[in-house]
Amino acid sequence: MRIALIGIGKIANYQMQAITHTEGIQLVDAHDLDPVKAEELPGSVTFYDNLDILLKRSKADAFLISTPTNSHFEVAMKVIEADRVAIVEKPLCTNQEQMDALMTAARTRKLPLYTAFHPSYGREVDWWREQREAQNFDVGRLIGFESCFADPYFMDGKLTLGAVGKAGAWIDSGASSLSILARLINPGSCLIDPDTLALVDGRMTAIPDLKCAQVQGLGIYRFKAGGHNGYGMVDTNWTLGKNYKTTRLWYENGVIELDHAKEYGRLRLAGQEELVFNLATDKPRLVNHYCGVFANLTEMHAQGEDNKELTEVLHRLLFAAMRS
Ligand SMILES: NC(=O)c1ccc[n+]([C@@H]2O[C@H](COP(=O)([O-])OP(=O)(O)OC[C@H]3O[C@@H](n4cnc5c(N)ncnc54)[C@H](O)[C@@H]3O)[C@@H](O)[C@H]2O)c1
Repeated sequence: MRIALIGIGKIANYQMQAITHTEGIQLVDAHDLDPVKAEELPGSVTFYDNLDILLKRSKADAFLISTPTNSHFEVAMKVIEADRVAIVEKPLCTNQEQMDALMTAARTRKLPLYTAFHPSYGREVDWWREQREAQNFDVGRLIGFESCFADPYFMDGKLTLGAVGKAGAWIDSGASSLSILARLINPGSCLIDPDTLALVDGRMTAIPDLKCAQVQGLGIYRFKAGGHNGYGMVDTNWTLGKNYKTTRLWYENGVIELDHAKEYGRLRLAGQEELVFNLATDKPRLVNHYCGVFANLTEMHAQGEDNKELTEVLHRLLFAAMRS
């Protein structure tokens, strides 16, 4: 599968590393509004400073969009309207109307549309799915979850450089957390039934003079696992002053804590000693994430599939919390 990159910023660097580690995928072309970014590309990649020319001339099978979040909609629509395949860094866009328009445009042209939910391919997430599928631990039924995604992007009353390109705490990290939960609540599948997860309430904190949609966002969800209802919370926060990304899943017989920043799992089963599993590798965690994305993408591409349905379910849950 041949890929072209649109937006050569911080995340593109990890994507390029992951491409070199993934069989069956090759980076052929790239575009950025800033021509200086061409220097970050390997010699084999052709740089275009004009998106229209890239879309006309490139032999790429798909175009991976990693521009600032607020521009995802406009750039993705341009790719689709050129009859080319868009792969979009999560979140796909910033509101329901934009998502509906992108889905309609892609479906009308019978084009695949894929969102790169890279945090859901964290090694700690894959590891716990494997443990559940193999039934290696007798944890019992899932009864609740709590997921916290905190980044130090709001300090001394201002946004820090880390927030550049991100739309807001909830839009950015809510999408990450929900995509992780979708893979954990349903360990046997990559899809999530819309009935499996539903919004109960959402609470967002916006600061009027700041160029971001929210500095904090919280969603309370009801889920269904094994025929029973459970409740969980997704908490995203730029004001805590730290990088802290953890999901806890409470089961009848214990709790698993997955640390997405440090790539480890900590299992506490009733009456047993705590077990800690270090899943980190010599590669940066974002490279590990993108290795998972590209493996999934190449497999879907080979079968003529995409992840539109998952994208719609997760973004509906995301946007519903913002409107709540
Ligand atoms: N940095 C991270 O750790 C990280 C992690 C996960 C997801 N993301 C997501 O990836 C996306 C990009 O983030 P980033 O941190 O790489 O941003 P960045 O600011 O480092 O890079 C964005 C690049 O896009 C270019 N650009 C801007 N508008 C463009 C346009 N309309 N057309 C073409 N190029 C354009 C900029 O010149 C820049 O080189 C965002 O949606 C962000 O939420 C970033």
